Amino acid sequence: MRTIASIDIGTDKIVALIGEVDSYGDIHVIGVGESKSRGIDRGSITKLEVASRAIATAVREAEEMSGQKVSHVIINVSGPTVKSQNEKDTINISPSPVEVEAEHIRRLVERSLARGKEDGYDIVHAIPRKYMLDDQEGIEDPVGLVGSKLTAQVHLVKVGTTVSRNVEKAVMSAGFQPSMRVVNAIASAKAVLEEEEKDDGILLIDMGASLTDFVLYLEGHPVITGCIPLAGNSITKDISHLMKVDQDSAERIKVEEGVALVNLVKEGETLKVKPRGEERDISIEKAKLAEIIQVRLEEIVEKIIESIEEAGYRLDSANAGIVITGGSANLKGIKDFLEKFTDMPARVGKPKGLIGLKEKIEDAKYATAVGLLKFGVSQEGVSADTGVQLAERNPNGKGLIASYVEKFKRWLEEIL
Ligand SMILES: Nc1ncnc2c1ncn2[C@@H]1O[C@H](COP(=O)(O)OP(=O)(O)OP(=O)(O)O)[C@@H](O)[C@H]1O
Ligand SMILES: [Mg+2]
Repeated sequence: MRTIASIDIGTDKIVALIGEVDSYGDIHVIGVGESKSRGIDRGSITKLEVASRAIATAVREAEEMSGQKVSHVIINVSGPTVKSQNEKDTINISPSPVEVEAEHIRRLVERSLARGKEDGYDIVHAIPRKYMLDDQEGIEDPVGLVGSKLTAQVHLVKVGTTVSRNVEKAVMSAGFQPSMRVVNAIASAKAVLEEEEKDDGILLIDMGASLTDFVLYLEGHPVITGCIPLAGNSITKDISHLMKVDQDSAERIKVEEGVALVNLVKEGETLKVKPRGEERDISIEKAKLAEIIQVRLEEIVEKIIESIEEAGYRLDSANAGIVITGGSANLKGIKDFLEKFTDMPARVGKPKGLIGLKEKIEDAKYATAVGLLKFGVSQEGVSADTGVQLAERNPNGKGLIASYVEKFKRWLEEIL
């Protein structure tokens, strides 16, 4: 059995997972490690040494549980620099119709990578969609069909080069070789979404501590991927500020008493808080707390909707509605809030699809780590230039270029 490992570097916690892949491609989780994040904020490394120590702590814990040592790891990247674009391109195959080959799709993807190049950004994903053969639309799988020109849209996901390099550096300083990068939203989608939901159209939201990552799927493929730098911590800070309590108390109040929708709170319900400078506890209406939470959630979801509309799409095209995951998806009433605010169906997404240690990793906060492992086994699109770049940057990662080419081939076989 092949061993794979993932590290989700979040603002609140770092999670390392080790899995074994059996001959059916199923992943058996054999190690889970978690540490408190240090030197990391909103997807960026703010203090190299402490960040890599925190990363090492999480991985060592997973290694101890599994009895396996890991060297290569699939890592997440995220932060406010994450953005996406869709490139449409056509290649002429032959003047008279011939059979389309996987190689033609590779050429299309590579051309979109070249066109999407931008100073200061790395392209992390290139996911082809919406094929057209000559003038025929709606082609799901062009390979084997005949045609003389092939058109496709390619969804490119980018992240700031500096952000990504520093995350890789922290992982390498901890003693591990990053073999692949996946943006948070794409990883979490892999862990919590059903194929049918993607086909019908769905918005995936991963609301963590300081980042809310999102990706909109239409007709089975991502059309916009992004990240809003506001999440659970913003809610905690609001509570701390408006209720005049310290951050730890605000966090506890949010988790224990917080509700995402004012309408869910019974009239007259109160809670006790001890504001700074007060001698004794005072009573506060739970509806007031819910209002603080709801206002911030509305702002975050509004920003996602704006990004979707700016990119020329509409949220209500997502017929399957919204799936929310990440630690903040545990907020009571979040499903009701989303349904009321957007007038669309919503559910909380728990990571699934792995074998073993389920009780440990079923919480929504593990969606990204689980998705990274799943992504490593069956890619969605290609990790673009990733393998090549990571190998070039990292001479110890021998064989990464070869493995990139292999992955590209496997990926093509899989999607075709
Ligand atoms: N039961 C709960 N109710 C409300 N909020 C919760 C609950 N459990 C966790 N959270 C919130 O979830 C957040 C942490 O989520 P998560 O573990 O997904 O973050 P992260 O991945 O470390 O950070 P990020 O992805 O933002 O960099 C915290 O803000 C925490 O307050
Ligand atoms: Mg996260």
